Amino acid sequence: MDRIRIRGGRRLEGRIAIGGAKNAALPLMATGLLTHEAVVLTNAPALSDIATMGGLLAQHGLRVEHDTASRRISLDGAATDFEAPYDLVRKMRASVLVLGPLLARYGQARVSLPGGCAIGTRPVDLHLKGLEQMGAVIELDAGYINARVPDGGRLKGARILFTQVAAGATENLLMAATLAEGTTELVNAAREPEISDLAHCLLSMGARIEGIGTDRLVIEGVDSLHGTAHPILPDRIEAGTFACAGAITGGELLLEGMRLDLFGACTRSLREAGVELLEEADGVRARRLNGLHGVDVMTEPFPGFATDMQAQFMALMAVAEGASMITETIFENRFMHVPELTRMGARINAHGSSAIVRGVGKLSGAPVMATDLRASVSLIIAGLAAEGETVVNRVYHLDRGYERVEQKLAAAGADIERIAG
Ligand code: UD1
Repeated sequence: MDRIRIRGGRRLEGRIAIGGAKNAALPLMATGLLTHEAVVLTNAPALSDIATMGGLLAQHGLRVEHDTASRRISLDGAATDFEAPYDLVRKMRASVLVLGPLLARYGQARVSLPGGCAIGTRPVDLHLKGLEQMGAVIELDAGYINARVPDGGRLKGARILFTQVAAGATENLLMAATLAEGTTELVNAAREPEISDLAHCLLSMGARIEGIGTDRLVIEGVDSLHGTAHPILPDRIEAGTFACAGAITGGELLLEGMRLDLFGACTRSLREAGVELLEEADGVRARRLNGLHGVDVMTEPFPGFATDMQAQFMALMAVAEGASMITETIFENRFMHVPELTRMGARINAHGSSAIVRGVGKLSGAPVMATDLRASVSLIIAGLAAEGETVVNRVYHLDRGYERVEQKLAAAGADIERIAG
């Protein structure tokens, strides 16, 4: 299994191209199931999660082409198989995003239940309850969600009030509602930029959606959708990750293609920590001003501080002056990077959903273990500032969400390499 070796202490400087957002690309790919015409996505990142979703859609019967050189994904044709098997869903929870589109267009779907994952239990009850409200009949059988629309009919519009703000559930129901009979209202919907990107793509396919960017989406179902070409928005989490990486080294990076509005509350937290963020014509400039300061953050749905930035921000806080209280409210087990950062000399005391980070003058390099996608990259960030050598093991998590991360960091001056093995 590959490892990443970092020798810390180099200041990062230069430009880093930010790719298309993984979390936008995955639901956007699922829109290929809503029409038999071609859906073409540009600015597509080359990530293993994208390949997994492509494999799943191909298994459903779509023609899937991903040209990594031109960053273009094209999805075409009709589904002939309605099952999302355990092997694929287990690898990537976002596979459950095929459920809404399959039900809406074909009236049937059999999707493996995702089960637990490293960062928490992550149920799909909100997806299922919403689809039931739209008339789907859902049974759980042998680890699978068996769903169908009775009598060969269509899903029906409904008023769905989410009891919790959930990105994936909002996306699944938004896609399902575009082809339902009548009007669907999604109340307390998630407002992540990736959801707005999905809604804009659906609009370009002929869907009728109001309230984009708000917590109340109103969708008037149409009989059919047509093909489209859609550019995927930039990855705010990749950009935020590099902002932290640059800052921890005292550096300055231009995050090419990024927009400041996509950061939500992360902008304020980074600025309070001592990282200047400036929007420029071709991206966002992230520059460490003087010292880093401890800042308290609490993860929340967008526009709050993103849970997907929590581990990276914690690495930054590990070397800041003063203390920082980091509270995770979205996932119950998302502090697995804490013991690994502690092995590098960080002073972190986690209890329940909060962690107190007391900044230390220096981290020291160590062999560490990656446990999930964002935890992996937080260890790389820590390694960039640590004295000596850090080796991050089990980096396959990293390839799910970061394209050539070690090459991008090396080009900005980091001493980092991948060791195949
Ligand atoms: C998405 C992102 C993930 C990010 C997360 C929160 C993708 C592919 N993944 O995940 O990177 O960390 O949003 O911003 O876009 N919940 C339920 N029942 C449900 C669905 C969710 O209780 O049916 C809970 C979850 O356990 C969690 C919270 O709601 O506590 C938010 O989950 P959700 O926003 O749905 O996360 P994902 O869509 O899985």
